[in-house]
Amino acid sequence: MPTGVPIEFAHLTKSFGNVDAVSDLSVVIEPGQVTGFLGPNGAGKTTSLRMLLGLVRPSSGTATFGGTPYGRLASPLRTVGASLEAASFHPGRSARNHLAVYAQAAGLPKTAPDAALEKVGLSAYAKRRVGGYSLGMRQRLGLAFALLGDPSVLVLDEPINGLDPEGIKWIRLLLRAMAAEGRTVLISSHLLSEVQQTVDDVIIISHGKLVHRGELSSLDVSDSKQVQVNADDRDRLAEVIRQAGYQVSNLRSGVLVENAEAAEIGRLAFAAGIPLTGLSQKRTGLEESFLTLVGEEGSL
Ligand SMILES: Nc1ncnc2c1ncn2[C@@H]1O[C@H](COP(=O)(O)OP(=O)(O)OP(=O)(O)O)[C@@H](O)[C@H]1O
Ligand SMILES: [Mg+2]
Repeated sequence: MPTGVPIEFAHLTKSFGNVDAVSDLSVVIEPGQVTGFLGPNGAGKTTSLRMLLGLVRPSSGTATFGGTPYGRLASPLRTVGASLEAASFHPGRSARNHLAVYAQAAGLPKTAPDAALEKVGLSAYAKRRVGGYSLGMRQRLGLAFALLGDPSVLVLDEPINGLDPEGIKWIRLLLRAMAAEGRTVLISSHLLSEVQQTVDDVIIISHGKLVHRGELSSLDVSDSKQVQVNADDRDRLAEVIRQAGYQVSNLRSGVLVENAEAAEIGRLAFAAGIPLTGLSQKRTGLEESFLTLVGEEGSL
């Protein structure tokens, strides 16, 4: 069973002229789970991944696989499978031909290309010219390339972009299975909703800086929970809740109570003999937390 090594970004920094694309990014991505690398367009995701894969030299800091930079890995394709955005494949050649060239150069078994195409569901199209591939098929081919050496670490830039709902479900299952086998899986996306059901952990960057790191559930900000409640005698209801020490504001369709549990507000109303016409818990949604973290102006 392939056991992945951690991916380590340490004080990773990259400036292009006066654009700070990535600033002092320090984070460790553990094996055995799927980690989402999130941030709005231009946040610095692709630049970070390009540095990790040795395609761009950092201004300072390091990006390594268990301490080893990509360029010093003994057999890179067997260790790390990567697919970056805008992967360019020669339009006139077939998928199998593309993969065969890489497999041979890396000394992989002759069966590797077909095995990888099979894994991504492209077997039937193996001999077709890549120029005729749809966006989704190109994504799958990029993934086949990443899987070619049966690597223990997967680094995928926006792998879900361009897939149809069936493709999204398929890649979700594939990535989760890879992580369950002990591999390290890092996928980027500019949309939390796109990867929400695929990732265990999230790393969120904005303007090149780390703004949040944690389990997906850590984005569910439950300390800002609100209760929306209503009664025919709304003024009295608001007064009773206010007297119990809560901060209350009036909505068009009821009363909004800050930092409260619905059950407790229900009990207060019951004890005061006020029949309720509505009672619901409002939690800050994942997407809302994400947008707050990355700054509303950066959102799509
Ligand atoms: N080769 C380059 N030369 C100059 N600036 C660059 C270069 N590559 C990236 N940048 C800038 O660095 C910043 C980060 O870009 P990057 O492509 O890493 O973002 P991203 O998070 O991948 O965005 P997206 O979601 O759009 O893919 C942007 O401001 C971008 O314009
Ligand atoms: Mg990008």
